[in-house]
Parts: sequence; structure tokens; C-alpha cells
Amino acid sequence: MKKSHLVFLLVLTLSFFVSRGASSPNDLDTSEDFLSCLQSKTNSVTSVSQLVFTPLNSSFQSIWQARVNNLRFIKPSTPKPSVIVTPVNDTQIQTALFCTKKHGYEIRIRSGGHDFEGVSYSAVVPFVMLDLINMKSIDVDVENMTAWVQAGALLGELYYSISQKTNTLYFPAGVCPTVGVGGYMGGGGYGNLVRKYGTAADNVVDVRFMDVNGNILDRKSMGEDLFWALRGGGASSFGIVLAWKLGLVPVPEIVTVFRVTKTLEENGTDIFYKYQYVAPSMDRDLIIRVQIFSEFIGNTTNKTIRMFFEGVYLGKTDTFLQLLDKNFPELNVRRENCEEMSMVQSSLVLADQGFTSSTPTEAIANQSAIKKLWNYKAKLDYVRTPIPKSELIKIWRKMFENDGSELLMVYAFGGKMEEYSDTATPYPHRAGVLYQLFKTVRFNDQTSDTTPASLRRLAWLQGFDTFLEPYVSKNPREAYLNYLDLDLGVGSETYEEASIWGERYWKKENFKKLIRIKAQVDPQNFFRHPQSIPVFN
Ligand SMILES: Cc1cc2nc3c(=O)[nH]c(=O)nc-3n(C[C@H](O)[C@H](O)[C@H](O)COP(=O)(O)OP(=O)(O)OC[C@H]3O[C@@H](n4cnc5c(N)ncnc54)[C@H](O)[C@@H]3O)c2cc1C
Ligand SMILES: *[C@@H]1O[C@H](CO)[C@@H](O)[C@H](O)[C@H]1NC(C)=O
Ligand SMILES: *[C@@H]1O[C@H](CO)[C@@H](O)[C@H](O)[C@H]1NC(C)=O
Ligand SMILES: *[C@@H]1O[C@H](CO)[C@@H](O)[C@H](O)[C@H]1NC(C)=O
Ligand SMILES: *[C@@H]1O[C@H](CO)[C@@H](O)[C@H](O)[C@H]1NC(C)=O
Ligand SMILES: *[C@@H]1O[C@H](CO)[C@@H](O)[C@H](O)[C@H]1NC(C)=O
Ligand SMILES: *[C@@H]1O[C@H](CO)[C@@H](O)[C@H](O)[C@H]1NC(C)=O
Ligand SMILES: *[C@@H]1O[C@H](CO)[C@@H](O)[C@H](O)[C@H]1NC(C)=O
Repeated sequence: MKKSHLVFLLVLTLSFFVSRGASSPNDLDTSEDFLSCLQSKTNSVTSVSQLVFTPLNSSFQSIWQARVNNLRFIKPSTPKPSVIVTPVNDTQIQTALFCTKKHGYEIRIRSGGHDFEGVSYSAVVPFVMLDLINMKSIDVDVENMTAWVQAGALLGELYYSISQKTNTLYFPAGVCPTVGVGGYMGGGGYGNLVRKYGTAADNVVDVRFMDVNGNILDRKSMGEDLFWALRGGGASSFGIVLAWKLGLVPVPEIVTVFRVTKTLEENGTDIFYKYQYVAPSMDRDLIIRVQIFSEFIGNTTNKTIRMFFEGVYLGKTDTFLQLLDKNFPELNVRRENCEEMSMVQSSLVLADQGFTSSTPTEAIANQSAIKKLWNYKAKLDYVRTPIPKSELIKIWRKMFENDGSELLMVYAFGGKMEEYSDTATPYPHRAGVLYQLFKTVRFNDQTSDTTPASLRRLAWLQGFDTFLEPYVSKNPREAYLNYLDLDLGVGSETYEEASIWGERYWKKENFKKLIRIKAQVDPQNFFRHPQSIPVFN
């Protein structure tokens, strides 16, 4: 085809999408058309109608809400889908994709529903939500050290399935058991094994993927560029991940979990200062995270900072204590702060759900045993230079200005992460990153995120973010795709506009490569959301 014809076709298609979006079709009519489209494409009409929900169905709200992880978005004003489809197999996904395009809807793909900005289940345009809640089979192959996991499975279900077959293999994934594998791997994915084995995406060995035309591809048939893009570039910019094939990693039968708390009165500043040097450079069998928040001292009006140092060592307590004694004696961890357990139990204990080592491991795969505690806005930074003590004290003072609803969560990197180049996968926060600095304010005690107190917290977070600029990574100030933050910008008309947020998630070289791959795989930009990889005219 001649180039001018191609351009003409492109313009035609674009104007189709634009007019569809702008003249917002009567939603009910269109959703009926959508339903008949689905029905005409299948031979079993009844089975289809059980998998499709419109706002007229009484269970619409509860299906939508079932995997809305951030309570901030559970409110009437959150824009909801025109249709929810909950497919049980790949053929139904193909059909849903076909009818979504045919009737001019956008699509949003939801696996675990943990997106920080709700883009998997909310949009200001008419859209179909593809809910992968029914597609969560997990097939663990101990002999070959691999597992096939469907996109709708949750991390806790994955951990539990592995532990049912072996206690000496695991997968290096995230901390919260209800995060979905569909979104998580697509953004990179760090967790308690990141210093030993890198990101989760580094350990993905194959994928089952549906492109915009409904073709089902694997690593071989899609080629290495797209396979690269899916593991850190955000899969939802490219198509639908049906399943990931994961490489499992060896872990000891017994690991050690520990926790100690320090306040400023207990030399917290000195200890955190030292942490910045030792935690990223110590033995990679050890990860130490720190949860930091402000609180009143006793019943006085004076405040302090409390720090929970906690983590997991891939070995027994004796070796762990010797290691700390040598490298980090100031932390003063004693035997009574430690507990030996299996790897899966360590995931349970460190999930921050109030689980202990005696909680049955099933709980990690049991959604109703896991409380939805989170109602928050969050932002993430990477720290590459240790922050001096005098500056740490300024940071604590800044925290005192808030009302105690804040939480910082620090994860040490280093170890295996030093071995990857920034372009090995789209995830570029590698060598030289000392730790990740997650900052959040919570609204759990508020009726919404717009009460006066909530608005004060949001303003505090914004101010804190600005305040931290001198202490965190620069040029670009790095951000993490899995902690999506629409405050970074949503412009995508030109590279200059998109680079404002895109280079923060991926850095320039990776972002440009992602844009090239996107143009090949989805040239009409069907798979999109406010911070998806852009397509330029
Ligand atoms: C409480 C909590 C704890 C967390 N802990 C960690 C952690 O320890 N480590 C870490 O790295 N991250 C962590 N995260 C962030 C988490 O990795 C991201 O929010 C991730 O995107 C969630 O994936 P999901 O499937 O649950 O989310 P969803 O909201 O379902 O999806 C997130 C994004 O991925 C896309 N997507 C989902 N499924 C597919 C699919 N099948 N194909 C294509 N695109 C898809 C969605 O469209 C959306 O753009 C945490 C988040 C929360 C809320
Ligand atoms: C939703 O409502 C329609 C119309 O009443 C019905 O045909 C369909 O079966 C309902 N869907 C579900 C999942 O209950
Ligand atoms: C997908 O599921 C539907 C409904 O259960 C069924 O009719 C169809 O045969 C299935 N297709 C495949 C390929 O399994
Ligand atoms: C391991 O992989 C090989 C080759 O893919 C396969 O033939 C074999 O069945 C696998 N082992 C198990 C236990 O599935
Ligand atoms: C704090 O550090 C000082 C000097 O290093 C030490 O003397 C003191 O015992 C420490 N305090 C606590 C509570 O550990
Ligand atoms: C606060 O603490 C002081 C000193 O410990 C005590 O005397 C007082 O009763 C406390 N006040 C309240 C309201 O608990
Ligand atoms: C509170 O802070 C003031 C001023 O720094 C100090 O004088 C006072 O002793 C502190 N009170 C407590 C209980 O720490
Ligand atoms: C899941 O957790 C709930 C709530 O704790 C409990 O009632 C239920 O029995 C658990 N289910 C399983 C299968 O363990």
C-alpha cells in the first residue's frame, strides 16, 4: 500500500474514534448493541449473559467494587464502566475485544485492581471493563522450576500454590497478597527478594498475550521487542496479558523474619543514617525495609518519629545475628526480635495484615481473610545519595506538620539490582539506587478524600514531595510505573509533553523504545489510559 493511502486510512480511523468519544453515544443503546454483538459471536447465549454486567444489573456495583483496592475510589462520583465483562476463557476475551472496538468503546483491563489511580476500572470516556477475576489458574512445575499463571490470579494465590508443591522454590514478587499478577509484572515489580533476584519482570520467561487484532502470541511469535516492553513498560499500553510464565527461584526451607522499632529518642536518626549505607550493600540474602511515621510522645503535645525496621533473611537466625553484629550493630536486633519460618509464612507475616507465623498459610490466598485497609494517595521516589543527618532532621520536622496520617516506606535495593543495565527491561531504577522512598497519606478515618482534613493531607503530601526534591534522584527525578501518579502529568500530544512524565517512569532511551514498539503493535492507540505509551501523528 502506498504511504498516502496509509495516512488516509489512519486519518479515517482516527476521526472514527474521535467522533465516537466526543459525541458520547447514548450509553444504554450502545451497551445493548454491545450485548447483541457478544451474543451473535457465541453459540451459548445464556452463558454469555451471565458474564456481562451493565449498570441495570443489580450486581453491577458489587462486581465493580470487588477488586477496587483503594477505598478512595469507592464513591458515586467515580466514573464507572458502561459494561463489565468477566470472561472465563481466551475466546470470550477475543469476542469482548472485537465488540468493544466495533461499538467504539475504550477498554480497561483489570486484574488485581490495585492501580494507584484506578485506571483499570475508571475512565471519563465510555468504556468496557475487562475483568479477569475468573481467569486465575496457576500451574506450578517444580521439576522445570516454572509456573504458568493466568493474569487474574493474585500474588498471595501464587505464593500459596507454590508452597503447596515445594518449600524450597518461590517467586520474587510483591508484598501485598492481593496485588494482581496482570498489572504487577507489567510494571516491573519489586518485593522482599529484589536484592537477591531482581524484579519480578526479570524472572518472567514467557507470556501468553492478545494483541489489538485478537491474535494470541507468545514470546517467540511476538519477538523480543514486545516481550521486552511488556515487562516494565506497562502491559496495558500494548494489549491483554492472558498469562505469564514465571521462572521460580531457590529459597531455603527456613528463613528469618525480624522486627525492631526505634524512635528519635532511641537514636532513630543515627540508625536510619547508617541504614542508608549498609542496607543496600549488605549480603543480598537480607532485605531490610523501614516504615516511618510521626506520633505524639506519650500523652504530650510533643512529636517523635517512629521507625519499624523489619525484613527477612534467607537463612537461620544465628547467621543473621552474626551478619548484623558485623555490619549494623546499632540496630541492636536481639534473638527475641527474630523468628524462623518458611518463605511463604514470611510473606504472610510481612504482609502487614496482622498475620503471625501461626496463621495457617491458606490465609495468604484467602481474599476474605485479608482486610482492605487502604484509602490513600501515594507517591514514590528513588534515593541515590545518602541523606545527611542534618537533613533527615529537617525531613522529620516536615512530617510533624502533618496530622499523623502519613507513612513513609523505605525498601533497600542494591545486590542483584546492581547487575542490570537500565535498558535490560523498561524498568530503569537499577544500579546506584540505594532505596525506594514511598510516601503516602491515608484517609481511613475520613468519609472521603475531599473532607477538609483529607484536603489538608493531600496538600501536605504535595508540599512534602516538593520539599524532598534536593534529596532524591534527579534528571530525571525517577518515578515507578506501578505506583502510577497522574500528578506527574498526562500530556501526550508531542514527545516533549509526554517526556515530562514518561522519562520519569522509564528514562529517555527506554521511553523512546517503548514509543517505537507501541507504534508497531497498536498504531491506532486502542489500548490507552491517561499515562499509556503515546502514539504521535
Ligand atoms: C496495597 C498495595 C501494595 C503494593 N505492593 C507492591 C509491591 O510490593 N511491589 C510492587 O512492585 N508493587 C506493589 N504495588 C503496586 C502494584 O504492583 C501495582 O498497583 C500493580 O499495577 C497492580 O496490579 P493489579 O493487577 O493488582 O492492578 P490493576 O488495577 O488490575 O491493573 C494495573 C494496571 O495494569 C493493567 N493490567 C492489569 N491486568 C492486565 C492484563 N492482564 N493485561 C494488560 N494490562 C493489564 C491495568 O489496565 C492497569 O493499567 C502495591 C499496590 C498496592 C495497592
Ligand atoms: C443483567 O441483566 C440482563 C437484563 O435483565 C440479563 O439478561 C442478564 O442475564 C443480567 N446479567 C447477569 C450477569 O445477571
Ligand atoms: C469458552 O467458554 C464458553 C462458556 O463456558 C464455552 O461455550 C466455550 O466453548 C469456551 N471456549 C473455549 C475455547 O474453551
Ligand atoms: C518440563 O519441561 C519439559 C520440556 O518443556 C516437558 O517435556 C516436561 O513435561 C516438563 N516437566 C513437567 C513435570 O511438566
Ligand atoms: C544513643 O547513642 C548514644 C551515643 O552513641 C549512646 O550512648 C546511647 O546509649 C544511645 N541511646 C539508645 C537509646 O540507644
Ligand atoms: C499524661 O501523663 C502525665 C504524666 O505521665 C499524667 O500525670 C497525666 O495523668 C496524663 N494525662 C492523661 C490525660 O492521660
Ligand atoms: C516537649 O518539648 C519541649 C520543647 O522542646 C521540651 O521543653 C519539653 O521537655 C518536651 N516535653 C516532653 C515530654 O518531652
Ligand atoms: C477465609 O477467611 C475467612 C475470614 O477469615 C474465613 O471465614 C474462611 O473460613 C476462610 N476460608 C478458607 C478456605 O480458609
